Amino acid sequence: MRSARRTSPSLANSLTASKAHSENTETAARRLAKLRRSLHYHAHRYYVLDDPTIADGEYDRLFQELLDLEARFPELVSPDSPSHRVGGAVLDGFQPVRHQRPMLSLENVFTSGELADFIGRLRRYLKWEEELACMVEPKLDGLAVELVYAQGILVSGSTRGDGLVGEDITAQLKTVRGIPLQLHPWQEPPPENLQVRGEVFLSKSGFATLNRQRGEAGKPLFANPRNAAAGSLRQLDPAITAQRPLAFYVYGLGNPEVLGLASQEELLQRLAAYGFPVNPLTALCHSEQEVESRYHHLHELRPTLDYDMDGVVVKVNIIALQERLGATARAPRWAVAWKFPASQATTRIEGVEFQVGRTGVITPVARLSPVVIDGVLVRRATLHNQDEIQRKDIRLHDTVLVQRAGDVIPEVVKVISEARSGQEVQLVFPELCPACGQPLARKVGEAAVRCINTACGGQLIQRLIHFAGKSGMDFEGLGKKQVELLVEKGLVADFADFFTLDAASLAQLDGWGERSAAKVLAAINRRTEVSLARLLMALGIRHVGEVTAEALAAHYLSLDALRSTSQEQLLDVAGIGVEVAASVHNFFHHPATAILLERLQAAGLRIMGAQPQAAGQGEEQGLAGRVFLFTGSLATLSRNEAKQLAQAAGARVATSLSRQVTDLVVGARPGSKKAEAERLGLSILTEEAFMQLLQRDG
Ligand code: IVH
Repeated sequence: MRSARRTSPSLANSLTASKAHSENTETAARRLAKLRRSLHYHAHRYYVLDDPTIADGEYDRLFQELLDLEARFPELVSPDSPSHRVGGAVLDGFQPVRHQRPMLSLENVFTSGELADFIGRLRRYLKWEEELACMVEPKLDGLAVELVYAQGILVSGSTRGDGLVGEDITAQLKTVRGIPLQLHPWQEPPPENLQVRGEVFLSKSGFATLNRQRGEAGKPLFANPRNAAAGSLRQLDPAITAQRPLAFYVYGLGNPEVLGLASQEELLQRLAAYGFPVNPLTALCHSEQEVESRYHHLHELRPTLDYDMDGVVVKVNIIALQERLGATARAPRWAVAWKFPASQATTRIEGVEFQVGRTGVITPVARLSPVVIDGVLVRRATLHNQDEIQRKDIRLHDTVLVQRAGDVIPEVVKVISEARSGQEVQLVFPELCPACGQPLARKVGEAAVRCINTACGGQLIQRLIHFAGKSGMDFEGLGKKQVELLVEKGLVADFADFFTLDAASLAQLDGWGERSAAKVLAAINRRTEVSLARLLMALGIRHVGEVTAEALAAHYLSLDALRSTSQEQLLDVAGIGVEVAASVHNFFHHPATAILLERLQAAGLRIMGAQPQAAGQGEEQGLAGRVFLFTGSLATLSRNEAKQLAQAAGARVATSLSRQVTDLVVGARPGSKKAEAERLGLSILTEEAFMQLLQRDG
């Protein structure tokens, strides 16, 4: 602007105006900075400390002044402005966000015996003779989220998703009052990057109010606080999220090393100092005994709390020990969820259905007299399999105890035999597939009864539902009902058919119309280019879940490489054992698979190149390339634990001696393998040497 020589009168005017504006801008910027500081401070006192020092009216006045100023100077709206608390622009959809570190899950224990086993295992592994101090934290039943702070400012917020990739809900999370938009000042400058993790939840009272309002407005009610919290966060319009009384408790970091602290206790203290709400019921326990009494204490408190708590999380307090213990692909080894006993109710079995799954397994499902458990209406419960029906002696019309735990399908725990009238009818497991009528089979040593007809229509529908669903291609708008309709109308008979659907036939379907047809087609089109991992998941190969699909994709990088690999080579992929390798190999060598893949490619499906797996991320790769064989009895580990530790460090584990084995780990009474290994010139390790190796390279 300054260099403009030929200034016209009108431009000169606007320059003067712009100079005045820039002076105003400076004043406004100063005032805004002050308002932001003050509003942050008072919001923290109110929402986190529960100890406000100004009247609500005064707070509202300051807030309004901030909103007015930002409306006049939109360029001054900073990413940490409290105005984000009321919600920003409406989004068109949620963008995927890859977590910088995987958001792991937790292993569960249910009894004090299982907890004792867990702690015993840790102590043996760590060779820790004293008591092991643990943090005991309430396990809230909400939604795990990650908040990324860059130089102290909240820049990204996401859901856990599949643990590797979540959804971007930054705008929604900014409306959650307990979440600081900027870290409170600390003695040292804020870390460059801080990955804060915690739980967003809705209080029971907030849930009741919300449902009352919805009832009055004639809207459908939420089944429980967790669903309501999830529904509130997944609002494309953040202004709606802002109206929901969501709360937040922090419980950890994705990258704890950046703070250089020694313990989980100090970490939570620091997070509190940064302005995060920490659950006040969190306590450091110095012995196993203390952990146990804390668990019982919180269990007693549970009904008096205004939020749902489904157990406690027990975490090794010392971070250096956490690091030594590391993590499996699924969960850290230094923490465990000790769940409260599941909620149960009694009801009657009205009928039993036998459902065919996508791999042909027949699952008996009880139809129940509807019963409310934890605020959720339960109409069905799984009976698992034939053996379970026999073991529990479940009969038609029995009164049964049903339990619901977290997200899993409700199950029948036992029969209330005192309630029998004699009218109950023995259940007969079908001999023919309820979907295709072909004979069912059961392998020796397996609990599952299966339909082995590869052309079974019942299995096909389930495979198609899985392919289109969230853990498959995730075609938005194509749920179970819609896929069933497409199959019934003959529009889809295999995976490739989804990609050649046309708008006209879809629009004619009952209750569809042109708009839904266009939406679904757009959703399918978005997926004509997929990652190898997603495709592997979607294909529904037995034993291939998220983690295995990611591992295969990262190892092989292309579908062709994976198709031409041998069963032996598959065992080289970290985390893949004999059973999975066989399943993957069989799948790719089945003649139908070749046809299927060809049809998918002909229909336009393209597979994006995968990224090689970065060493040292998630799973430690220190022992990659080595193949361990264990022999004799180990003193501090079970075989299975030893195997898991080796695999987690990137090594493979063999079950018999072959030329591929690089190291033999010998316990007591090793047998003949040791001599043979010596003859082959293999490296022979004691159990202690193996443990040292893990600690050094694992
Ligand atoms: S720690 C690396 N601490 O439980 C450790 N999780 O299966 C991973 N959860 O959905 C989590 N309260 O959101 C941790 N105090 C707590 C927790 C907690 C609730 C949830 C978490 C996740 C699930 C883990």
